[in-house]
Amino acid sequence: MSEINRQIKVEKFTTPAEGASFFQEKIEGPGPEELLVRTQYAPINPADLNVIEGKYGKLPQLPAIIGNEGSGQVIEVGESCEGFSVGDHVFYVNRNDCWQDYVRVNSNQVIKVPESLSPQLSSMLKVNPATAWLLLNQIEYKEPNFWIVQNAANSGVGIAVIEIAKLMGWKTINFVRRAELKDQLVSYGADLVVTDNDDGKNEAIERIGKDQVSLAINAVGGESALRIMSLLSEGGTHITYGAMAKRPLKVPNSFLIFRDLRIQGLWLSKWLNSTSRQVMETVYGKLAEMMIHENLHQPIDSIFRPEEIKFAIKRSMETGRKGKVLLDFTS
Ligand SMILES: NC(=O)c1ccc[n+]([C@@H]2O[C@H](COP(=O)([O-])OP(=O)(O)OC[C@H]3O[C@@H](n4cnc5c(N)ncnc54)[C@H](OP(=O)(O)O)[C@@H]3O)[C@@H](O)[C@H]2O)c1
Repeated sequence: MSEINRQIKVEKFTTPAEGASFFQEKIEGPGPEELLVRTQYAPINPADLNVIEGKYGKLPQLPAIIGNEGSGQVIEVGESCEGFSVGDHVFYVNRNDCWQDYVRVNSNQVIKVPESLSPQLSSMLKVNPATAWLLLNQIEYKEPNFWIVQNAANSGVGIAVIEIAKLMGWKTINFVRRAELKDQLVSYGADLVVTDNDDGKNEAIERIGKDQVSLAINAVGGESALRIMSLLSEGGTHITYGAMAKRPLKVPNSFLIFRDLRIQGLWLSKWLNSTSRQVMETVYGKLAEMMIHENLHQPIDSIFRPEEIKFAIKRSMETGRKGKVLLDFTS
């Protein structure tokens, strides 16, 4: 087998608008222990943009095909490769080069998904739903009537936080930059949606009353991170997992001394590298079921062909998006 493989490559770390380019190369068939997967869809996540900029926790050696997640179908199975068949629907779990038509993988680099989960949704299963699940599982919830507060609540992770928390019976306060998102987030199960400013904070304080706020989940940094942190009850936990505003976290001493807040970070990659295959399959199986039954949404804003990568990246950086920008490798 020798096919033309469309791929998105970074040759030099620079701005996202300039750094990713479209190429075509030949790909050979799989080795005896490999599978050949035909990519279907792949989202553009903030982490992909950070990789292009050369500002991510783990960077490839250049030149490199990039792309942190994607879905596909097995089209060839190496003779010594067990547990997979041609036609299996999968998502890439331990690959950072998903933005290409064909990927030769070891069987531990993909996880099967049910056929009833669309390839578009499968392509968004690995990163944001699992991050939300992990964030919500970082603390023990001791009080019966507690709140979780988050910013960037309309992000892929934010929506998954709302929906997973709802399913667990936990209440969420959700800060967003755009007031027009309120109805949409309430329809996903948000208990309160407020604008990310002081008015929003006052609205949240009023609603919380004497309840416990156990967890603050921060994807923004700067003032927004402090705003949600200031709502935490004594001993509450703040987790930073994103830095969309690219502003540092300046934590007042009093938050640590008098209120004993716990401040930590979270990176999905660490979990992926340290978790058994069995646990991963269980977690992703549950998240996939939630998506199939429409209890977990990952909205799509727009879909581009790989040849249109520059337009796709430009759109992924615009505010006002309705969801993820996907790359469509099926056309
Ligand atoms: N630590 C981990 O393992 C992990 C895993 C997944 C994601 N993340 C991080 O989590 C964050 C969200 O990722 P995602 O894929 O869920 O995001 P997304 O769906 O692409 O949404 C981006 C969100 O960030 C907001 N935003 C964009 N620029 C901003 C700015 N300058 N200031 C404040 N807010 C801004 C957007 O608001 P508007 O819609 O109003 O523009 C939107 O809510 C990113 O930082 C990502 O890198 C981390």
